[in-house]
Amino acid sequence: MNKRMIKDRIFLLGAVDWSRRLFDSLIPLPDGTTYNAYLVFGSEKTALLDSVDPPMADVLLSQLTDVSKIDYIVSHHAEQDHSGAIPMVLEKYPAAKVICTTKAKGMLMDLLHIPEASFQTVEDGEKLSLGDKTLEFVYAPWVHWPETMTTYLPEDRILFSCDFFGSHIATSDMFVVDKGRVYEAGKRYFAEIMMPFRNVIEKNLEKLKNYDIGMIAPSHGQIYDDPAWIMDAWRDWVLAPPKNLAVIPFVSMHESTARMVDYLASKLVDNGVRVELYDLTVTDIGKLAMSLVDGATLVVGTPTVLAGPHPLAAYATFLANALRPRTRYLSIIGSYGWGGKTVETLSAMIPNLKVEVIEPVLCKGLPTKEVFAAIDKMAAAIAEKHKEQGFV
Ligand code: FEO
Repeated sequence: MNKRMIKDRIFLLGAVDWSRRLFDSLIPLPDGTTYNAYLVFGSEKTALLDSVDPPMADVLLSQLTDVSKIDYIVSHHAEQDHSGAIPMVLEKYPAAKVICTTKAKGMLMDLLHIPEASFQTVEDGEKLSLGDKTLEFVYAPWVHWPETMTTYLPEDRILFSCDFFGSHIATSDMFVVDKGRVYEAGKRYFAEIMMPFRNVIEKNLEKLKNYDIGMIAPSHGQIYDDPAWIMDAWRDWVLAPPKNLAVIPFVSMHESTARMVDYLASKLVDNGVRVELYDLTVTDIGKLAMSLVDGATLVVGTPTVLAGPHPLAAYATFLANALRPRTRYLSIIGSYGWGGKTVETLSAMIPNLKVEVIEPVLCKGLPTKEVFAAIDKMAAAIAEKHKEQGFV
C-alpha cells in the first residue's frame, strides 16, 4: 500500500500483513495485523515514527522513495515488529537520529546492533520541535515492554501510541469503521499481551488525562478518529471488577471430565452465573485469554494423566498465571484412573494469581451421584461468592 495522508503533512506508512497467523510464536492472529509507521513533516524537520517488521521492510522503503531527508526516527518500542526495519531506514538516511528512551537505546543496540552514535535519548515530557509541529514524548512503560513511550503532537491533537490501544486486524481501512470488530480485536490484544501489566497501565491511562487527544494513531490496526470509546474500554479492562462469569478451560480423555464440566456449567447457569467453556483440544487460546479479562472464577477441568494434569490443562493454567487476570476464585475438577497429584501440580503453577481456592472435585472414573452432589456445592459456592461481591 502507498503512504496515505491522515492530516496536513502527517502520513500513515507501514505494511498490512494479511497472512500472519501467529505473533511471538505464541499469539493467534486470526485476522492478520498491520505494522503502522507514521511520517510527520514539520516546517523544518521530518520525523518517521516507528518502522515495520523486518520481512516487510521493502514496503516501508518503497513508501519513502520520494522522501529526500529524515531527521528523526522515533522508536517508541524496541520490539522488532516496530523497530526491526530501523537499520534499513538508517542505511538510507545515515544522518537521522534515533529518538527513544534511555532503556530503549540499550535494547535497540542489543536487538538490532544500531550504533550508539545514531541515538538521541529523550526524557519523559521532553519536546522536540519540527518547526511548526512539535513531538512531545510521553513515557508509557509496559505497553508493552518496560522501555515504551508514546508521542503527542499538540498542533494536531494526535497521540501516536505504538502498542498501546492497538488491535491486530489486517485491513485497508485507515480509520476505525466497525467499532464492534475493533473492540473485540482490541480486547483480544489487551488480553494476550497487556493484561499482566494492568497496574502500570492504570497509571499510563491516568497520565493521558493531561492531554487533549483528538486522535489515537497506534502501530497495529486502525486509527481512532473518535478515541474516547477505546480509552473507556481500556479503563474497563484495567479497572472494573470482574464479571459474574466462570471461565472453564477443560480437556477430557474418556468423557468423565467432560460430564463433570457439562454438569458444573449447567448448575452454574441455574445459579445465575454465566459460563464460557473452552475445550482445550480445539480452542483458540486468544479467546480463552479474552474470557480471562472478565471472568471472576476460573475452573480448570482435567483428567489425570501420567500422574498429573493433562498437558493441555497445564498449559492453560500456566498461561492464566502468566497473564495475571483479575480472577478472584479458582477451582479444579476432573477424573482420574488410580491416583496422581493433579491438584498439587496445578496449585503450584499459579503463584501470580491472587485467588481464593474453592474446594476441587476429583473423582475416580465416571462421576457418581456423590460427585455430582459435590459439584452442586461448588456451583452454589461460586454463585454465592459472585453475589456477595456484587459481580454483574
Ligand atoms: Fe507490536 Fe510489543 O510489539
